[in-house]
Amino acid sequence: MSIVSASKENIAAAAALLRAGRLVAFPTETVYGLGGDAGNDLAVASIFATKGRPSFNPLIIHVPDAAEAADLVRFDKRAQKLAAAFWPGPLTLVLPRRSDSPVSLLASAGLDSLAVRIPAHPIALALLQAAGCPIAAPSANPSGRVSPTTARHVADHIENGQMERQVAMVLDGGPCMVGVESTVLDLTGERPILLRPGGIPRETLQEHLGPIAVARAVELGGPKSPGMLLSHYAPHLPVRLDADLAQSGEALLGFGPARDAMLNLSERGDLAEAAANLFAMLRALDRPTFRGIAVMPIPDHGLGAAINDRLRRAAFR
Ligand code: TXA
Ligand code: MG
Repeated sequence: MSIVSASKENIAAAAALLRAGRLVAFPTETVYGLGGDAGNDLAVASIFATKGRPSFNPLIIHVPDAAEAADLVRFDKRAQKLAAAFWPGPLTLVLPRRSDSPVSLLASAGLDSLAVRIPAHPIALALLQAAGCPIAAPSANPSGRVSPTTARHVADHIENGQMERQVAMVLDGGPCMVGVESTVLDLTGERPILLRPGGIPRETLQEHLGPIAVARAVELGGPKSPGMLLSHYAPHLPVRLDADLAQSGEALLGFGPARDAMLNLSERGDLAEAAANLFAMLRALDRPTFRGIAVMPIPDHGLGAAINDRLRRAAFR
Protein backbone atom coordinates (compact mmCIF):
# COMPACT_ATOMS: atom_id res chain seq x y z
CA MET A 1 0.00 0.00 0.00
CA SER A 2 1.26 3.46 -0.71
CA ILE A 3 -0.10 6.93 -0.15
CA VAL A 4 0.46 8.89 -3.35
CA SER A 5 -0.40 12.38 -4.48
CA ALA A 6 -3.36 12.53 -6.83
CA SER A 7 -1.32 13.41 -9.92
CA LYS A 8 -2.60 12.63 -13.42
CA GLU A 9 -0.30 9.60 -13.61
CA ASN A 10 -1.34 8.28 -10.23
CA ILE A 11 -5.04 8.70 -11.02
CA ALA A 12 -4.47 6.68 -14.21
CA ALA A 13 -2.59 4.03 -12.22
CA ALA A 14 -5.39 3.93 -9.65
CA ALA A 15 -7.97 3.49 -12.43
CA ALA A 16 -5.95 0.58 -13.84
CA LEU A 17 -5.81 -1.03 -10.39
CA LEU A 18 -9.59 -0.67 -10.05
CA ARG A 19 -10.15 -2.24 -13.46
CA ALA A 20 -7.90 -5.11 -12.38
CA GLY A 21 -10.15 -5.75 -9.39
CA ARG A 22 -7.95 -4.10 -6.77
CA LEU A 23 -9.07 -1.62 -4.10
CA VAL A 24 -8.12 2.06 -4.07
CA ALA A 25 -8.87 4.61 -1.35
CA PHE A 26 -9.72 8.01 -2.80
CA PRO A 27 -10.96 11.40 -1.61
CA THR A 28 -14.51 12.64 -2.07
CA GLU A 29 -16.03 15.89 -0.81
CA THR A 30 -17.56 13.98 2.15
CA VAL A 31 -15.07 11.36 3.39
CA TYR A 32 -12.43 9.08 1.87
CA GLY A 33 -13.92 6.09 0.09
CA LEU A 34 -12.60 2.56 -0.33
CA GLY A 35 -13.31 1.93 -4.00
CA GLY A 36 -13.65 -1.25 -5.99
CA ASP A 37 -15.17 -2.21 -9.36
CA ALA A 38 -18.88 -2.49 -8.55
CA GLY A 39 -19.36 -5.04 -11.32
CA ASN A 40 -16.67 -7.36 -10.02
CA ASP A 41 -17.91 -9.78 -7.34
CA LEU A 42 -14.40 -10.45 -6.05
CA ALA A 43 -13.54 -6.77 -5.75
CA VAL A 44 -16.81 -6.12 -3.92
CA ALA A 45 -16.23 -9.09 -1.61
CA SER A 46 -12.80 -7.75 -0.84
CA ILE A 47 -14.30 -4.37 0.17
CA PHE A 48 -16.51 -6.13 2.73
CA ALA A 49 -13.59 -8.24 3.98
CA THR A 50 -11.20 -5.29 4.24
CA LYS A 51 -13.67 -3.25 6.30
CA GLY A 52 -14.99 -6.17 8.32
CA ARG A 53 -18.37 -4.98 7.13
CA PRO A 54 -21.45 -7.16 7.54
CA SER A 55 -22.48 -8.37 4.09
CA PHE A 56 -26.10 -7.28 4.65
CA ASN A 57 -25.02 -3.62 4.62
CA PRO A 58 -25.13 -2.48 0.97
CA LEU A 59 -22.61 -0.14 -0.67
CA ILE A 60 -23.05 3.17 -2.49
CA ILE A 61 -22.24 3.04 -6.20
CA HIS A 62 -20.29 6.03 -7.52
CA VAL A 63 -20.52 7.22 -11.12
CA PRO A 64 -19.11 10.28 -12.92
CA ASP A 65 -22.38 11.48 -14.51
CA ALA A 66 -26.14 11.07 -14.54
CA ALA A 67 -26.15 9.11 -17.81
CA GLU A 68 -24.08 6.38 -16.18
CA ALA A 69 -26.38 6.39 -13.17
CA ALA A 70 -29.31 5.82 -15.51
CA ASP A 71 -27.67 2.57 -16.66
CA LEU A 72 -27.86 1.26 -13.11
CA VAL A 73 -31.17 2.45 -11.67
CA ARG A 74 -34.57 3.75 -12.78
CA PHE A 75 -35.08 7.47 -12.30
CA ASP A 76 -38.52 8.93 -11.69
CA LYS A 77 -39.42 12.64 -11.80
CA ARG A 78 -38.38 13.21 -8.20
CA ALA A 79 -35.00 11.58 -8.73
CA GLN A 80 -34.39 13.57 -11.91
CA LYS A 81 -35.20 16.78 -10.13
CA LEU A 82 -32.87 16.06 -7.21
CA ALA A 83 -30.08 14.80 -9.44
CA ALA A 84 -30.29 17.99 -11.50
CA ALA A 85 -30.20 20.15 -8.39
CA PHE A 86 -27.61 18.35 -6.24
CA TRP A 87 -25.30 16.21 -8.39
CA PRO A 88 -22.37 16.22 -8.27
CA GLY A 89 -22.75 16.49 -4.51
CA PRO A 90 -23.24 14.78 -1.17
CA LEU A 91 -26.62 13.21 -1.98
CA THR A 92 -27.11 9.48 -2.43
CA LEU A 93 -30.34 8.32 -4.06
CA VAL A 94 -31.72 4.84 -3.39
CA LEU A 95 -33.64 3.86 -6.51
CA PRO A 96 -35.03 0.70 -8.12
CA ARG A 97 -32.22 -1.35 -9.59
CA ARG A 98 -32.47 -1.96 -13.33
CA SER A 99 -32.70 -5.63 -14.17
CA ASP A 100 -29.78 -5.27 -16.58
CA SER A 101 -27.66 -3.32 -14.09
CA PRO A 102 -24.05 -4.55 -14.20
CA VAL A 103 -23.59 -3.98 -10.47
CA SER A 104 -22.72 -7.02 -8.36
CA LEU A 105 -25.67 -8.27 -6.31
CA LEU A 106 -23.29 -8.50 -3.38
CA ALA A 107 -22.77 -4.72 -3.52
CA SER A 108 -26.47 -4.09 -2.96
CA ALA A 109 -26.75 -6.93 -0.42
CA GLY A 110 -29.30 -8.65 -2.61
CA LEU A 111 -31.78 -5.74 -2.39
CA ASP A 112 -33.75 -4.79 -5.48
CA SER A 113 -32.69 -1.19 -4.95
CA LEU A 114 -29.33 0.47 -5.49
CA ALA A 115 -27.77 3.53 -3.86
CA VAL A 116 -26.02 5.85 -6.33
CA ARG A 117 -24.20 9.16 -6.19
CA ILE A 118 -21.92 11.47 -8.15
CA PRO A 119 -19.27 12.88 -5.81
CA ALA A 120 -18.37 16.58 -6.07
CA HIS A 121 -14.62 16.17 -5.97
CA PRO A 122 -12.33 16.69 -8.97
CA ILE A 123 -10.06 13.75 -8.05
CA ALA A 124 -12.98 11.40 -7.47
CA LEU A 125 -14.58 12.42 -10.76
CA ALA A 126 -11.30 12.05 -12.68
CA LEU A 127 -10.82 8.60 -11.16
CA LEU A 128 -14.39 7.50 -11.98
CA GLN A 129 -14.00 8.70 -15.55
CA ALA A 130 -10.65 6.98 -15.98
CA ALA A 131 -11.87 3.72 -14.43
CA GLY A 132 -14.82 3.60 -16.82
CA CYS A 133 -16.83 1.35 -14.53
CA PRO A 134 -19.18 2.09 -11.61
CA ILE A 135 -17.24 2.10 -8.34
CA ALA A 136 -18.61 0.77 -5.06
CA ALA A 137 -17.15 2.82 -2.25
CA PRO A 138 -17.98 2.78 1.44
CA SER A 139 -16.06 5.05 3.76
CA ALA A 140 -12.47 3.81 4.03
CA ASN A 141 -12.53 2.85 7.73
CA PRO A 142 -13.01 -0.42 9.57
CA SER A 143 -16.74 -1.04 9.96
CA GLY A 144 -18.16 0.78 12.99
CA ARG A 145 -15.26 3.18 13.38
CA VAL A 146 -14.80 6.90 12.76
CA SER A 147 -14.79 7.76 9.04
CA PRO A 148 -11.58 9.08 7.46
CA THR A 149 -11.34 12.65 6.19
CA THR A 150 -7.65 12.59 5.26
CA ALA A 151 -5.42 10.10 3.44
CA ARG A 152 -3.42 9.76 6.66
CA HIS A 153 -6.53 8.54 8.52
CA VAL A 154 -6.91 5.78 5.92
CA ALA A 155 -3.22 4.85 6.04
CA ASP A 156 -3.32 4.70 9.86
CA HIS A 157 -6.02 2.03 9.74
CA ILE A 158 -4.01 0.00 7.26
CA GLU A 159 -0.72 0.39 9.11
CA ASN A 160 -2.33 -0.46 12.47
CA GLY A 161 -3.60 -3.69 10.96
CA GLN A 162 -7.26 -2.68 11.51
CA MET A 163 -7.97 -3.05 7.81
CA GLU A 164 -6.60 -5.97 5.87
CA ARG A 165 -3.73 -5.02 3.66
CA GLN A 166 -5.69 -5.34 0.47
CA VAL A 167 -5.71 -1.65 -0.36
CA ALA A 168 -3.46 -1.22 -3.38
CA MET A 169 -3.21 2.57 -3.23
CA VAL A 170 -4.36 5.58 -1.22
CA LEU A 171 -4.83 8.68 -3.37
CA ASP A 172 -4.12 11.79 -1.33
CA GLY A 173 -6.41 14.71 -2.13
CA GLY A 174 -6.03 16.62 1.13
CA PRO A 175 -8.74 16.97 3.76
CA CYS A 176 -12.40 16.47 2.76
CA MET A 177 -14.35 19.72 2.58
CA VAL A 178 -17.77 18.50 3.75
CA GLY A 179 -16.56 16.06 6.39
CA VAL A 180 -19.75 14.05 6.96
CA GLU A 181 -21.08 11.41 4.57
CA SER A 182 -23.67 11.96 1.89
CA THR A 183 -27.35 12.23 2.73
CA VAL A 184 -29.04 8.93 1.82
CA LEU A 185 -32.57 9.36 0.47
CA ASP A 186 -34.82 6.40 -0.35
CA LEU A 187 -37.00 7.09 -3.39
CA THR A 188 -38.16 3.53 -3.99
CA GLY A 189 -41.55 4.15 -2.40
CA GLU A 190 -44.26 6.74 -2.77
CA ARG A 191 -42.96 8.73 0.18
CA PRO A 192 -39.34 9.83 0.16
CA ILE A 193 -37.54 8.61 3.27
CA LEU A 194 -34.35 10.02 4.72
CA LEU A 195 -32.22 6.98 5.58
CA ARG A 196 -29.14 8.90 6.71
CA PRO A 197 -28.76 12.63 7.39
CA GLY A 198 -25.64 13.93 5.67
CA GLY A 199 -23.97 16.63 3.63
CA ILE A 200 -27.20 18.01 2.16
CA PRO A 201 -29.63 19.02 4.90
CA ARG A 202 -33.16 17.57 4.90
CA GLU A 203 -34.56 21.12 4.90
CA THR A 204 -32.78 21.82 1.60
CA LEU A 205 -34.13 18.66 -0.02
CA GLN A 206 -37.63 19.49 1.20
CA GLU A 207 -37.54 22.77 -0.69
CA HIS A 208 -37.47 20.64 -3.84
CA LEU A 209 -39.53 17.61 -2.82
CA GLY A 210 -41.92 18.65 -0.07
CA PRO A 211 -42.08 16.71 3.19
CA ILE A 212 -39.46 13.98 3.71
CA ALA A 213 -40.01 11.37 6.41
CA VAL A 214 -37.11 10.35 8.61
CA ALA A 215 -36.39 6.66 9.04
CA ARG A 216 -36.05 5.63 12.64
CA ALA A 217 -32.86 3.89 13.67
CA VAL A 218 -33.44 0.20 14.12
CA GLU A 219 -30.83 -1.76 15.92
CA LEU A 220 -30.52 -5.08 14.17
CA GLY A 221 -32.66 -7.46 12.20
CA GLY A 222 -33.14 -6.38 8.62
CA PRO A 223 -33.11 -2.60 8.90
CA LYS A 224 -34.09 -0.84 5.71
CA SER A 225 -30.72 0.89 5.62
CA PRO A 226 -28.24 -0.99 7.73
CA GLY A 227 -26.25 2.24 8.01
CA MET A 228 -28.81 2.92 10.70
CA LEU A 229 -27.17 0.47 13.06
CA LEU A 230 -27.00 2.36 16.31
CA SER A 231 -23.37 1.96 17.26
CA HIS A 232 -21.14 3.37 14.56
CA TYR A 233 -18.50 6.04 14.12
CA ALA A 234 -17.17 4.90 17.47
CA PRO A 235 -13.88 6.16 18.90
CA HIS A 236 -12.23 3.89 21.45
CA LEU A 237 -13.03 6.28 24.31
CA PRO A 238 -16.58 6.75 25.63
CA VAL A 239 -18.31 9.83 24.23
CA ARG A 240 -20.59 12.02 26.38
CA LEU A 241 -22.97 14.39 24.59
CA ASP A 242 -24.48 17.78 25.45
CA ALA A 243 -21.70 18.52 27.90
CA ASP A 244 -21.10 22.02 29.21
CA LEU A 245 -17.85 21.19 30.94
CA ALA A 246 -15.31 18.39 30.98
CA GLN A 247 -15.41 16.07 33.97
CA SER A 248 -12.10 14.87 35.37
CA GLY A 249 -10.01 13.11 32.78
CA GLU A 250 -12.32 14.03 29.91
CA ALA A 251 -11.31 15.99 26.84
CA LEU A 252 -13.89 18.63 25.91
CA LEU A 253 -14.77 19.02 22.25
CA GLY A 254 -16.24 22.48 21.92
CA PHE A 255 -18.75 24.17 19.66
CA GLY A 256 -19.08 27.95 19.81
CA PRO A 257 -17.33 30.02 22.47
CA ALA A 258 -15.79 27.59 24.98
CA ARG A 259 -12.97 28.39 27.34
CA ASP A 260 -12.01 24.87 28.37
CA ALA A 261 -12.33 23.08 25.06
CA MET A 262 -9.34 20.94 24.12
CA LEU A 263 -10.41 21.29 20.49
CA ASN A 264 -13.27 23.29 19.00
CA LEU A 265 -15.46 22.13 16.10
CA SER A 266 -16.22 25.76 15.30
CA GLU A 267 -15.54 28.65 17.60
CA ARG A 268 -17.85 30.86 15.57
CA GLY A 269 -20.61 28.26 15.77
CA ASP A 270 -20.59 27.47 12.06
CA LEU A 271 -22.16 24.07 11.30
CA ALA A 272 -20.34 23.55 7.98
CA GLU A 273 -17.00 24.18 9.68
CA ALA A 274 -18.00 21.83 12.51
CA ALA A 275 -18.94 19.05 10.06
CA ALA A 276 -15.62 19.41 8.26
CA ASN A 277 -13.74 19.12 11.58
CA LEU A 278 -15.87 16.43 13.25
CA PHE A 279 -14.13 13.15 12.40
CA ALA A 280 -10.57 14.50 12.49
CA MET A 281 -11.16 16.02 15.94
CA LEU A 282 -12.80 12.88 17.32
CA ARG A 283 -9.76 10.96 16.13
CA ALA A 284 -7.34 13.50 17.61
CA LEU A 285 -8.97 13.29 21.06
CA ASP A 286 -9.28 9.50 21.00
CA ARG A 287 -6.10 8.95 23.06
CA PRO A 288 -5.44 6.91 26.19
CA THR A 289 -4.35 10.08 28.00
CA PHE A 290 -8.08 10.86 28.36
CA ARG A 291 -10.88 8.91 30.05
CA GLY A 292 -13.54 10.06 27.67
CA ILE A 293 -14.61 12.69 25.15
CA ALA A 294 -17.25 15.21 26.21
CA VAL A 295 -18.95 17.10 23.39
CA MET A 296 -20.76 20.41 23.73
CA PRO A 297 -24.32 20.70 22.37
CA ILE A 298 -24.72 21.23 18.60
CA PRO A 299 -27.91 22.76 17.16
CA ASP A 300 -29.97 20.10 15.38
CA HIS A 301 -30.90 22.01 12.22
CA GLY A 302 -29.21 21.97 8.80
CA LEU A 303 -25.89 20.12 8.86
CA GLY A 304 -26.27 19.86 12.63
CA ALA A 305 -28.64 16.90 12.10
CA ALA A 306 -25.87 14.91 10.39
CA ILE A 307 -23.33 15.93 13.04
CA ASN A 308 -25.65 14.92 15.89
CA ASP A 309 -26.51 11.65 14.15
CA ARG A 310 -22.81 10.73 14.01
CA LEU A 311 -22.23 11.87 17.58
CA ARG A 312 -25.18 9.86 18.95
CA ARG A 313 -23.86 6.73 17.28
CA ALA A 314 -20.34 7.47 18.51
CA ALA A 315 -21.76 7.73 22.04
CA PHE A 316 -23.91 4.58 21.83
CA ARG A 317 -22.47 1.51 23.56
O1 TXA B 1 -20.41 10.20 1.50
C1 TXA B 1 -20.57 9.01 1.30
O2 TXA B 1 -21.67 8.52 1.03
C2 TXA B 1 -19.33 8.10 1.40
C3 TXA B 1 -18.38 8.46 0.25
C4 TXA B 1 -17.19 7.55 0.19
O3 TXA B 1 -19.08 8.49 -0.97
N1 TXA B 1 -19.70 6.72 1.37
C5 TXA B 1 -20.34 6.14 2.43
O4 TXA B 1 -20.58 4.79 2.27
O5 TXA B 1 -20.67 6.74 3.43
P1 TXA B 1 -20.99 3.85 3.47
O6 TXA B 1 -20.88 2.48 2.91
O7 TXA B 1 -20.16 4.14 4.66
O8 TXA B 1 -22.51 4.15 3.73
C6 TXA B 1 -23.48 3.73 2.79
C7 TXA B 1 -24.85 3.92 3.35
C8 TXA B 1 -25.15 2.90 4.41
O9 TXA B 1 -25.91 3.56 5.41
C9 TXA B 1 -25.97 1.87 3.65
O10 TXA B 1 -26.79 1.12 4.49
C10 TXA B 1 -26.76 2.75 2.70
O11 TXA B 1 -25.83 3.73 2.31
N2 TXA B 1 -27.22 2.03 1.51
C11 TXA B 1 -26.48 1.59 0.47
N3 TXA B 1 -27.24 0.95 -0.44
C12 TXA B 1 -28.51 0.98 0.02
C13 TXA B 1 -29.76 0.49 -0.45
N4 TXA B 1 -29.86 -0.17 -1.59
N5 TXA B 1 -30.86 0.72 0.29
C14 TXA B 1 -30.76 1.40 1.46
N6 TXA B 1 -29.60 1.89 1.97
C15 TXA B 1 -28.50 1.68 1.28
MG1 MG C 1 -19.30 4.43 6.62
